[in-house]
Parts: sequence; C-alpha cells; structure tokens
Amino acid sequence: MSDTRVPPTRGERVADWFDGRLGIHTFGRKYLRKVFPDHWSFLLGEICLYSFAVLVLTGVYLTFFFHPSMNEVTYHGGYVPLNGVRMSEAYASTLDISFDVRGGLLIRQLHHWAALVFVAGMLTHMMRHFFTGSFRKPREVNWLFGWLLLFLGLFEGLFGYSLPDDLLSGTGLRFVDGALLSVPIVGTYLSMFLFGGEFPGHDIVARFYSLHVLVIPGIMAALVLAHLVLVVYHKHTQFAGPGRTERNVIGAPFFPVYLAKAGGFFFLVFGVLSVMAAVATINPVWSYGPYRADQVSTGAQPDWYLGFAEGLVRIMPGWEVTLRGHTLVLGVLIPVVVFPLLLVFIGAYPFLEARAGGDGREHHLLDRPRNRPVRTAIGAAWISVYLILLAGGGNDIVATRLHLSINTVTWAVRIGLFAAPAAVFVVTRRICLGLQLKDRELVEHGRPTGVIKRLPHGEYVELHEPLDQAALHTLTAHRRPAELVEREP
Ligand code: HEM
Ligand code: HEM
Repeated sequence: MSDTRVPPTRGERVADWFDGRLGIHTFGRKYLRKVFPDHWSFLLGEICLYSFAVLVLTGVYLTFFFHPSMNEVTYHGGYVPLNGVRMSEAYASTLDISFDVRGGLLIRQLHHWAALVFVAGMLTHMMRHFFTGSFRKPREVNWLFGWLLLFLGLFEGLFGYSLPDDLLSGTGLRFVDGALLSVPIVGTYLSMFLFGGEFPGHDIVARFYSLHVLVIPGIMAALVLAHLVLVVYHKHTQFAGPGRTERNVIGAPFFPVYLAKAGGFFFLVFGVLSVMAAVATINPVWSYGPYRADQVSTGAQPDWYLGFAEGLVRIMPGWEVTLRGHTLVLGVLIPVVVFPLLLVFIGAYPFLEARAGGDGREHHLLDRPRNRPVRTAIGAAWISVYLILLAGGGNDIVATRLHLSINTVTWAVRIGLFAAPAAVFVVTRRICLGLQLKDRELVEHGRPTGVIKRLPHGEYVELHEPLDQAALHTLTAHRRPAELVEREP
C-alpha cells in the first residue's frame, strides 16, 4: 500500500524546527487568542506605547550626530547668524542636526513632539484608569509600574530637554540647581555632586546623556514590558454590559483582529507625530543662543508637563528663615517638598482608596465615573490643581498676553490653588449625584419619547418608552453602597 501522507512543505519544516526549539506554537495558541475588549479609551495606552517606540527610534538616530560634550568650540556651520560664536560642542552639534544633517531637523522635532505626546498620553491614560477604577485589586502593582513610568518619563524629558545646552534649557538647569541648593545641610553637596563642581560645570551634559539614552530608557523599556505582561496576566478590565461579568472578557482576539487594528494605529500615531514635526516648530534652539550662566531669557518655561513644578516655585512668597546661622529658603524648599508629594499621592491612591473603603474584593468590571462621586471629584480636583499650577508656571506669559500685572496673576493662582480644588470637588460630586438620579429616572420611567399626550382631564404628559434589557443591565450593573441599599424602599 502506498503512503498517502502529504510531505511537509518547506515552510512547515521551518516552522517545526522553530517550534521544537522555542515552543512558539503552544505559546501562540494560548496568547494569540487573548481577548481584547473594544473601547476607545484602551487606545490611550497604545498612544503611550507607540510614542515611546517613536522616541526610541528617533533618539537612536539623534545619537549618531549629537556630541554630549561641554568643550567650547567656535561655530562655523550652516546657521549664519551664529557664525563665529563660541558655544559648547553639544549646542553646536544640535545646530548641525538642525541645519546640516539630512532629515536632522525633522527627526529632532519628531523626537520632541513625541516626548510631549508621550507624557500627555500617559497622563490621560492614567486619568482614565483613575476615573474608571481599573487600579483596584488585583491591578495595584500595574498602577505602580505605570506610575513609575510617568515619574521616569518626566525626568527623561527634563534630561533630554537639557542636552542641547541652549539658553532656555540652561535656565531650566539653573532652576534645578536652585532647588537642590535649597535642601538644608546637604544642598551644596547635592549641587556639586550633580554638576561635578560649581554650576554649570563641564560634566552635566555628558551625565544627563548617559541617563537619557541608556539608564532611564532601559528601565522604562523593562517597566513597559512588565506592565504589558501584567495586562495579559490579569486580563483586561471591561465596562459593564450584557454578558460581561467579573469572570469573563468579551471582545475580539489578539490575532488577527486586534493586531491589525493595533498595527494600523501605530502608523496613525507615527504619521500624526510626523506631520506635527514637519509643520510645527518645536524648541528652535538656534533662536535662543548657547547657554551662558550670566544670561537669562524671558518667557523661559519648561516643557508643559513640568510646568506645574515651575508654578509651585513661582507662586511661593520669597520666605526665608535663619536657624542657628543657617538660612532656610522656604520659598523654594516648600515647593521642592510639595512636588514629590503631589506625585506620591497618585502612586499611593489605590491603596488609600482600598483602605478608606475597606474594599478587599477583586474588580474586573470598570466603574462609570458618576457611580463613584467622591473618587471622580478627587480626580477632577487634582486636575484643577495641576492646571492652576500650570498657569502659575507661565505667570509671565499669562500677564503679558492678557495685559495684567504679574502680581495679579500670581495672587489669583495663590488663591486659586486652594479655592479651585475645593469648588471643583463639590461641583463634580454634585454633578455625579445628579447624573445618578438621571440614570435612576431612566431605569424607572424609561426614555422620554417627545410624544405629548393629553389626558381626559386636560393634563399634558410626555410618553416614556421603557429601556431595552441591554441598556437596563448596563445602567444597573454596579454595586451600590450598602447604606444606600438599606435605605431604599
Ligand atoms: C521616554 C523617552 C524620551 C523622552 C521623553 C525624550 C525627550 C527628549 C527631549 C525633550 C529632547 C530635546 C529635543 C530637542 O532638542 O528639542 C531630547 C533630546 C535627545 N534625546 Fe531623547 N527622549 C526620550 C528617549 C530617548 C532615547 C531612547 C534616546 C536614544 C537612544 C534619546 C536620545 C536623545 C538625544 C541624542 C537627544 C539630543 C539631541 C537633540 O536635542 O537634538 N532620547 N529627548
Ligand atoms: C510608557 C507608558 C505606558 C504604556 C506604554 C502603557 C500601556 C498600557 C496598555 C497598552 C494597557 C492595556 C490597554 C489599556 O487598558 O489601556 C495598559 C493598561 C494599564 N495601565 Fe498603562 N501604560 C503606560 C503608563 C501607565 C501609567 C502612567 C499608569 C497609571 C499610573 C498606567 C496604568 C495602567 C493600568 C492600571 C492598566 C490596567 C488596566 C486594565 O487592565 O484595564 N499605565 N497600559
């Protein structure tokens, strides 16, 4: 009898070879079918991921041409207005990247825009997790991984921003120096240690360079991987809806549906960032000039994400106290303490909420923000603090643009810093409660149809149409606090 089995094709043999050594088939069969729920807000995490990839790609290109050295050179490159000016090699190479390297300016701008979008993506992604409560058990550790990414991202941005050694970023470094010097007892040592001597020294660009291209991206890449591994391990959270429970995930499989969407979305993010880099100037260092410790430019702002830290310092009165012959510069020291506290509050929030609510249960269904009025109000109040401080960080710009005195703006920010979060908290909480009542109205009486009916005794009423089962389920599938349930008839 002849053998009817079809011999394996060359492709199958190659696949077998790899499977025998790497176990790809078993791994793929399990994970390629991982289910991804469909909701637009899940794209925010992807924006972070793809802009991080763009940062790494463009960053590597920049390393080919950037010289992280503060040795002084005389510039003779393509940007004629600075011809013959003495400057650091770092600044000169940034000018070369911008004017003499093919595609250099585009890639530099792409890198900078990607950095801005990356941090914006992280903040919005974080707020969406905050408002929907996806940080609750068992995802607290993943929240912490994300929080570390945000924290590192802020410093990675600051270090990158400082590399070109231009007048703007040098002014930012002077700010960092001032913050370090305000630390009691060890301030001078910290500053000397960071700058390798008296500010600005000759080492800071090279030091920031190692941190910027090696240490921090390495840690961040590892954290991103751990973050995504945990997303797969915990499975996605999902919004309540028909058929969705705490034990299942409803959506499309990773392969082919999600992979195709994600691939397309990567190119979309890359494309939008490239258009921004091509048409919108960002950080035109040539117009600021090289950094000189005896000069400072007006309108000196950090990138937007550190604006709140700058705001903290700008609105502080210049308080100083003298203790046993030592001067404490409270005007800077207090912001230096408050800045990390604002960040630590975010990192610790999942634990604080679980403790305050005595909630030890696992949660895989997301909350609608209105159903958690206190949390939503805290989130909104936090955002208001952030925005008020951002305005404080740009008090000079706000004053000149709106033709106000800088003192008026500073005082408005000082008062707003305390008044705005309190007002925002109260208003947001009331709005949430109002929306809950609206939901309750919908569930009990149905949707208004716009059809008016006249009753026999002359009264006009609007007809309501009951919600379908799916909508009813979605609106009622949330836990209510025990005390409310008890009070209900
Ligand atoms: C999360 C990641 C990153 C952020 C937020 C970030 C941010 C920045 C920023 C804001 C600048 C200033 C750009 C300018 O001149 O306008 C910069 C410069 C630079 N970055 Fe990054 N970066 C990141 C990752 C990387 C990586 C992974 C590399 C290299 C492997 C890199 C290499 C560079 C280099 C060489 C410069 C100086 C060149 C220049 O300023 O023209 N960056 N970075
Ligand atoms: C480099 C930065 C980051 C990247 C690339 C990233 C990426 C992602 C992706 C792709 C997901 C799955 C899709 C989604 O639920 O949106 C996710 C989930 C998550 N992220 Fe991030 N993220 C980053 C930063 C952050 C930050 C700053 C936080 C909060 C502080 C955070 C907290 C979370 C949490 C709690 C989940 C799990 C949510 C769930 O399972 O539904 N992430 N992240």
